[in-house]
Amino acid sequence: MTKTHFGYAQVDDADKAKRVRGVFDSVASKYDLMNDLMSMGMHRAWKAYTVAVANVRAGDKVLDIAGGTGDLARAFAPQAGAAGMVVHTDINESMLGVGRDRLVDAGVVLPTTACDAEKLPFRDAQFDLVSVAFGLRNMTHKDLALADMCRVLRPGGRLLVLEFSKVAAPLQKPYDWYSFNVLPRLGQWVAGDSQSYRYLAESIRMHPGQQELKDMMKAAGFGHVDVHNLSAGLVALHVGVRC
Ligand SMILES: C[S@@+](CC[C@H](N)C(=O)[O-])C[C@H]1O[C@@H](n2cnc3c(N)ncnc32)[C@H](O)[C@@H]1O
Repeated sequence: MTKTHFGYAQVDDADKAKRVRGVFDSVASKYDLMNDLMSMGMHRAWKAYTVAVANVRAGDKVLDIAGGTGDLARAFAPQAGAAGMVVHTDINESMLGVGRDRLVDAGVVLPTTACDAEKLPFRDAQFDLVSVAFGLRNMTHKDLALADMCRVLRPGGRLLVLEFSKVAAPLQKPYDWYSFNVLPRLGQWVAGDSQSYRYLAESIRMHPGQQELKDMMKAAGFGHVDVHNLSAGLVALHVGVRC
């Protein structure tokens, strides 16, 4: 059996998705509140930047992968307009359920579909834009997921990957202290779950850095990849173009 990592733990490939599902089943109802608290609201600015770079036009077809509680889908929907389409997807039904309710409460009606990014149930070359925010890190076979994201994009279409990355060296120590001391306690206090937030801190450390992810995207079929460092590399936005 092939092994992979779940945070710092080595697990069988087949077990990772189950464990990730456990994390998001546990945190779904408190996910948005925890995002605001943990990032001190910065996730809103990172997503706003992503939406600005995406520059979705009326009529565009957009696929939001690992869309969770729907922040990106909600921002893209009015831009794509009635002539376009935004599909909100995630592998986890608890997260999708919270997201769908939030979208409906905001008056946004769009298709919400459970699907695994590693086996996307969409035809080739169907989308102008694919986005994945803070989701790739949790996937077992990131190479397969990136290749499938490339497959469903039309030539010239773009993939936007917003994800935690390698922070600048001077911030490394305080960031580690915050991640391993504050996050699990905050998780316990707000969501009654310290383990899921320890997993978050560990999974960030195990995720490929800026250059490695760029190389992976090129290997997956993206002809051109730009990297935008945000908040001193705490987070990076990778923009890949299907050539
Ligand atoms: C940290 S949340 C991000 C949610 C949202 N995109 C955001 O930025 O707030 C990560 C999401 O990735 C989803 N996910 C994990 N593995 C996945 C996979 N193989 N396919 C699709 N979604 C996946 C999880 O269910 C979870 O909702």
